Amino acid sequence: MVNSTKDILRLAPMMGYTSAPFRLLLRLLAPEVQLYTEMVSVNAVVHHPQAHYFSRFAEEENTVFQLGGDHPKHSAEVAKQAEQSGFTEININCGCPSNRVQNANFGACLMRDPERVGEMVQEMQKKVSIPISIKHRLGIDKIIDYEFVHNFVKTIYSAGCRRIIVHSRNAWLEGLSPRLNRKVPPLRPQLVYQLKKDFPDMNVCINGEINTVEKVLDHLTPSKEYHEIALDGVMIGRKIWDNPYLFAHIQQEISKNKKTSISCSSPIISPNEIIVQYFQLVQKNYHWIKDIWSVNTLMRPLTHLYHGRSGAKQWRTSVTKPYSNLKEAESLLTLSNQLF
Ligand SMILES: Cc1cc2nc3c(=O)[nH]c(=O)nc-3n(C[C@H](O)[C@H](O)[C@H](O)COP(=O)(O)O)c2cc1C
Repeated sequence: MVNSTKDILRLAPMMGYTSAPFRLLLRLLAPEVQLYTEMVSVNAVVHHPQAHYFSRFAEEENTVFQLGGDHPKHSAEVAKQAEQSGFTEININCGCPSNRVQNANFGACLMRDPERVGEMVQEMQKKVSIPISIKHRLGIDKIIDYEFVHNFVKTIYSAGCRRIIVHSRNAWLEGLSPRLNRKVPPLRPQLVYQLKKDFPDMNVCINGEINTVEKVLDHLTPSKEYHEIALDGVMIGRKIWDNPYLFAHIQQEISKNKKTSISCSSPIISPNEIIVQYFQLVQKNYHWIKDIWSVNTLMRPLTHLYHGRSGAKQWRTSVTKPYSNLKEAESLLTLSNQLF
């Protein structure tokens, strides 16, 4: 069987980064990657409704809406609005360790209460017809036994969830900032493979410091190290912000690699051409996006487009200088041709 990459490669949800403009850029340079929104708080949507929570470009397609909450009925309402807004999957955040999120009883602390997460899945499934997935960790604090995460997945599986994304380390809820929680607790990918072995018809995607083409291919091909099992998907976060072209290169490499049986037809488009297309879409949508994002926020996704190339520093400085209107920012089009 030949799979397409539609949900094999995924962009990790990142607050402050994966808003619609960055997703639009990635869609242009990696058409087959599944994109994720930033986490949207269910409480915020219910108590302070604003249309921009659901903003997306029509050109994005294949974007997952991530919500953070613990209230099954409210979450289901939000899921419904997300489906109506064109998102193609709903993801429940059970991995965020921040204090603010813990105080509101969602994120990683929900791993202690799998029944509630199961209830959320079931309420959402009554309201939407798109898939519901869960992004979670391997455990919380010092709980390192496999049984904990196995029990969590077993419960959500019984509730009907068939898609998980596992950030393959624990969340330490006490004494560690969210930033350090993405670095200090050790990675234990072998447990993600154990989950795939125990729940073979669960779509299991792995996340956490996967930052090279080789690492992606390793997870997508059966290996002796991990019971001859291959995982269903790979999710990447920080490295894609630093180097958005990595997705385009991975797409190309996995389709070339015979062992993965994945086809991917999209050619790699040059950054100069991507910028032209990006500006065209920003101009086309400007009537509605100008009320949500400043011109600088719209330019920010372009910051690392020339990662690793000579002239990249001058480019970054130019992208991040203040622009008072879109016309002014269009000088970047000329600069890209001069520099590269
Ligand atoms: C700035 C930033 C914001 C993040 N925001 C979210 C979020 O909103 N929801 C979520 O599930 N994870 C969030 N994460 C975690 C990422 O989705 C991902 O799990 C983590 O960065 C590990 O993947 P990586 O090593 O490929 O970056 C965030 C990470 C970063 C760096």
